[in-house]
Amino acid sequence: MAVESVQEVRPEGPARVLDLAERLAARRRQEGKAGREPEPAGAGRDLRVMAVCSGKGGVGKTNLVVNLGVALQRLGRRVIVLDADLGLANVDTLLGLQPTATLRDVLLGESSIAEALLAGPEGIRIVPASSGFEDVTELTGAQRLRLLEEVDLLEEDFDVLLIDTGAGISSNVTFFAVAANEILLVVTPEPTALTDAYALVKVLSRRYAERDFGVIVNMARGSREGEATWRHLSRVTERFLGVSLHLAGIVPFDGELPTAVRRQRPLLDLAPTSAAARSIERLARGLLAAPPEKLPKGGLQFFFERLLGGERR
Ligand SMILES: Nc1ncnc2c1ncn2[C@@H]1O[C@H](COP(=O)(O)OP(=O)(O)OP(=O)(O)O)[C@@H](O)[C@H]1O
Ligand SMILES: [Mg+2]
Repeated sequence: MAVESVQEVRPEGPARVLDLAERLAARRRQEGKAGREPEPAGAGRDLRVMAVCSGKGGVGKTNLVVNLGVALQRLGRRVIVLDADLGLANVDTLLGLQPTATLRDVLLGESSIAEALLAGPEGIRIVPASSGFEDVTELTGAQRLRLLEEVDLLEEDFDVLLIDTGAGISSNVTFFAVAANEILLVVTPEPTALTDAYALVKVLSRRYAERDFGVIVNMARGSREGEATWRHLSRVTERFLGVSLHLAGIVPFDGELPTAVRRQRPLLDLAPTSAAARSIERLARGLLAAPPEKLPKGGLQFFFERLLGGERR
């Protein structure tokens, strides 16, 4: 992976900020000389950023993110998974990985992204989470610049960023959902999962003007139940919020999944021919075949800029 090491830069101090800004500018000038147009952040790059959200907890987000990541990687996309469940990180646990540094350390400038990145199954990369998101809103200018510079170094290494958000409708969740290009809403046929998903769509559409949601119905007992679940939710959001939801995929209830969790291995690896594995593969193919209607051009750096409180769509 083309991740260069970044010089240690202590946050604080206008001189340091200037130094970093100059280094970034110099890097862009160099890129220009090497025949590449220096791009403004977010221009001309096609990284797809998908936030996987749910409202209700325990509906299968983390398992879907990990296995969708593996499926997309098998389809030739370079995948990075961001564990944004800042209170209850579990992507690393699900895969039996031991983080040395976390997203929080990176955001606080205490560790580089390269140091935090974990090698996951089949080549996917993982940025593990921790808790303490309040810190992020207090980042200094120097810390932000440092982070953006680091992200810039990863920019060309990935095609898809998958974000495992936490449950609920807290600002942590909406923060990541709004910064992403696409929102995938995971529901199960349970009424509570539907009411919580509705609440999340309500917040995201009313407060942040989000209109485009893909639904993944997980733990469905057959495709009929899956479709009925999506249709029911979409009818309600259309009627009361004016938002229609498209069906991204249906994943059946599958006894192999809890086994994979216990073995700390992705389902796609442990039971590749299981019904859930096959439907996650279908989901991955469907997502690649149908990019969102308006995919704003934006790379990893652009995503982090939005996340750090710059521009909100
Ligand atoms: N399709 C499925 N079939 C059977 N069991 C499933 C399926 N999907 C998920 N599960 C089970 O549901 C449990 C919760 O899954 P997971 O941890 O992925 O949910 P989550 O939405 O990430 O939860 P949280 O909101 O707590 O982060 C797991 O034990 C998993 O084995
Ligand atoms: Mg989870």
